[in-house]
Amino acid sequence: MPRTTFPRSSATRPIRIWDAPLRCFHWALVICIIGAFTTAQLGGLWMDWHVRFGLAVLVLVVFRLVWGVLGSHHARFANFVRGPGAVAAYLKGTLTTAGHSPLASWSVVLMLLSLLVQAGTGLFATDGILIEGPLAHRVDPGVSDTLTGIHQINKIVLLALIVLHLLALLWYGLVKRQPLVRAMLTGNKPAGQIPERTAPAQDDWRLWLRALIVLAAILAVLYGWVLPN
Ligand code: HEM
Ligand code: HEM
Repeated sequence: MPRTTFPRSSATRPIRIWDAPLRCFHWALVICIIGAFTTAQLGGLWMDWHVRFGLAVLVLVVFRLVWGVLGSHHARFANFVRGPGAVAAYLKGTLTTAGHSPLASWSVVLMLLSLLVQAGTGLFATDGILIEGPLAHRVDPGVSDTLTGIHQINKIVLLALIVLHLLALLWYGLVKRQPLVRAMLTGNKPAGQIPERTAPAQDDWRLWLRALIVLAAILAVLYGWVLPN
């Protein structure tokens, strides 16, 4: 008997929006942030792991900043960070975007900045007893104390931004019925929920190669030059 195939509805047809390196960045970041907060909470010998998780966050955030220039279309800052006009149009419902919404774009920028400050100050932080960041001995104790203070205050800013992020995702899922979390897992959004004729993002071995070169360069600079100096 001939098999009948039904064409997939064009509204639900999946379109690749988030490339795989960006998705790996996101979920690795989630694991490392949970690790950094948990080990800081446990204290004592766990602080060695805190520094390791923190350094991993530093590498990931620097990777994301470079990926904002070299990544696929929707990963690039130039293609999603938008001004107040676009934010207003989005809030009025006259603008839809395939990647981050104009409002979400600012939460992404703030989160990346806060993560950079947290990981950057961690390099110079010290508890004065057991543990210090790998560059703490390179600066005056006063500077290290100031940066430790920023590390302690910014953790609250970071936590607040993460809570806001999760509440926003809950709202999108429950009220707007947009499966954003699934999109960050699979990379795809249904064609019906993004502007017509959105071209799929590049997501192939060439992009992986580019991501691995960027990652290797960051690791080489951090472990070959910044930390040993
Ligand atoms: C971005 C990821 C990071 C997060 C979320 C984070 C979070 C925290 C938290 C919550 C504390 C406890 C602060 C307090 O008791 O009030 C802490 C302390 C500390 N962190 Fe981090 N940290 C991160 C990255 C780093 C990095 C990259 C390093 C070093 C390479 C580092 C080194 C330290 C040190 C030395 C302390 C002890 C300072 C103190 O006792 O106040 N952290 N961090
Ligand atoms: C430690 C907590 C988290 C941090 C620091 C964090 C950070 C981020 C960042 C920086 C982005 C921007 C992605 C990019 O363009 O690079 C993002 C996007 C996203 N995150 Fe998270 N995230 C966290 C937890 C989560 C969790 C638990 C979920 C799922 C339940 C999630 C789901 C998403 C989704 C769906 C997006 C895309 C939002 C959009 O479409 O505009 N995140 N997150």
